[in-house]
Amino acid sequence: MDITSIRKKAIDTVASTSDLKDLEIVYKSFLGKNGELNNLLKTLGSLPADQRKEAGQSLNLLKKEIEAIYSQKQTDLVYIESERKLKSEKIDVTLPGVVKKKGTIHPVTQTINSISDFFISLGFEVASGPEVETDYYNFEALNVHADHPAKDMHDTFYLGNGGLLRTHTSPVQIRTMEKQEPPLRIICPGRVYRKDSDLTHTPMFHQIEGLVLEQGASFAQLKGLLNDFLTDFFGQEMELRFRPSYFPFTEPSAEVDIRWKKGWLEILGCGIVHPNVLEMAGIDTKKYSGFAFGLGAERMAMLKYDIPDLRAFFENDHRFLKQF
Ligand code: FA5
Ligand code: MG
Repeated sequence: MDITSIRKKAIDTVASTSDLKDLEIVYKSFLGKNGELNNLLKTLGSLPADQRKEAGQSLNLLKKEIEAIYSQKQTDLVYIESERKLKSEKIDVTLPGVVKKKGTIHPVTQTINSISDFFISLGFEVASGPEVETDYYNFEALNVHADHPAKDMHDTFYLGNGGLLRTHTSPVQIRTMEKQEPPLRIICPGRVYRKDSDLTHTPMFHQIEGLVLEQGASFAQLKGLLNDFLTDFFGQEMELRFRPSYFPFTEPSAEVDIRWKKGWLEILGCGIVHPNVLEMAGIDTKKYSGFAFGLGAERMAMLKYDIPDLRAFFENDHRFLKQF
């Protein structure tokens, strides 16, 4: 038997092993059940009796030696492995963190809230109605007859089932008058839809309808109320004009424009509610009269924040939105 060569082989093999699993295999090949050392032990019996003891002792020494270099190597490899892991999984705590951007309230929502607050403070209640409307509420009950040219005024999105996307918030006037007894002071903010798109028009936008129905409601009150509201909203008196206009559901009617760039920007339509509309809703026109208005929320926000293109409100560009 060749203890010297086995010893050298064991030392070399362990030294050249760089992996814990391989080391396990190497260990077994020397010290396992069928390892080289065990096989050598089995041959002891065939030695002459006087050599047996000495050979046994040196085999035991070799066994201890291999065990020692094995466990030293094992410690080294475990250390190297954990260093490697530490390095690859290292987190640099000095790097700047990922800052989660905080959302802000959309400028149009802010505008609607601030407009609503003004009217709520004057005792108005907030009403609402469906965005999918019927021809009756969007047109008919508002004195816009089936063949009325005013139907073209609104480029309407008609739905397959005979319904339509409301083109203004005025149908909420009707729905409220049908449900509630006058006197009434309501505002109805909501989405409306038209086939429109340019600098000052989008296919979906928000209107805020206002309706006052009480004894003696007059155009003078309407004008005074709108003047007060606009001064409050913009924080200063604006250069504006009440321009005579036409709506089938009001008489007389007006639109309000505000100075914008080198011209005017229309922000609302208004007027004295047409008696036909009140009668269709079952209101006693001898007792009550009403005035109403319909404001464009995006137009108001556009003027307040000096936005040149109304469509910017719907692009959802975070750089734009976070300014508000
Ligand atoms: C109406 O819709 C009437 N229902 C308003 C009204 C209510 C009159 C009650 C009388 C009594 P008009 O179509 O003008 O009116 O629209 C009202 C406002 O909505 C406009 O003054 C404008 O500010 C805004 N507006 C209209 N079309 C668009 C659009 N495509 N995009 C953004 N804003 C719009
Ligand atoms: Mg108009």
